[in-house]
Amino acid sequence: MNTAIGTKEAIKRWDGFADTYASHHTENGDIHKEVFLNSVLFELMGDVKGKRVLDAGCGEGYLSRLMAKQGATVTAVDFAPRMLEIAMERTPDQMDIDFRHGNLEHLDLFNDGLFDLAVSNMVLQDLANVESALKEIYRVLVPGGCFVMSILHPCFITPESGWEKNDSGDKLHWNVDQYFYEGAYEQKLGKMVLFHRTLTTYINTMIKSGFSLERIVEPTPSQEMLKKHPTFEEDFRCADFIVFKLRKAGVESQSSWFSPIVP
Ligand SMILES: C[S@@+](CC[C@H](N)C(=O)[O-])C[C@H]1O[C@@H](n2cnc3c(N)ncnc32)[C@H](O)[C@@H]1O
Repeated sequence: MNTAIGTKEAIKRWDGFADTYASHHTENGDIHKEVFLNSVLFELMGDVKGKRVLDAGCGEGYLSRLMAKQGATVTAVDFAPRMLEIAMERTPDQMDIDFRHGNLEHLDLFNDGLFDLAVSNMVLQDLANVESALKEIYRVLVPGGCFVMSILHPCFITPESGWEKNDSGDKLHWNVDQYFYEGAYEQKLGKMVLFHRTLTTYINTMIKSGFSLERIVEPTPSQEMLKKHPTFEEDFRCADFIVFKLRKAGVESQSSWFSPIVP
């Protein structure tokens, strides 16, 4: 664990890794997004048609493009310049997505209440200040706006987690260790910087930022996906991802404390 590493170093690594990362993405994202995340994200977001949507940490932009195809007006932000460049290269001119370079921890480029919906797919474990990012996303949503976010499941993906195997390489069980050690650590594969925090920290930070929690999903592969990718059967043994549906307080609940008392 290294508590001195921050977002700047994490982004430097994302920038250097952007081309390799993007090479694993098709129009439906990478295999994990196809198998686990896309269907859950769209179910939780509901109909995006006609909505002003913020894709917070858009990466190479596949999710922005899927949402734009469904009629959303998409603004997509990423802090890694090369990632954003690839996202723009991959987006046809006629697809009107507003790509912006920015840090989710300080979204000064947007006024309050600009978006009906925000989505952040596998980003918040990659930045140092989750409290500031959640507050910023809350600020730029309209009252009553919805925020759907996926992250690596913090109870199972920890600084020292991984398969315990026997001598023949069979997977015996998934080890979890150092759960309560919050802070930056280096991913074994890819050398990206991840910021581990407990589930309690995530949920309490969401609540502290003003959000109410509407739903949680721990995605598993569908039968259809299992037919296509049978090796994902092992993902019924523990969860890799968790997805949250959050809601910003609406106009009514924001002002409810001074509502007149009706006799
Ligand atoms: C795992 S990738 C996910 C990308 C995309 N959401 C997707 O699903 O393909 C994480 C992305 O978050 C971006 N990111 C990390 N920290 C960020 C920050 N503080 N502000 C904006 N983007 C950030 C990285 O540059 C990277 O593109």
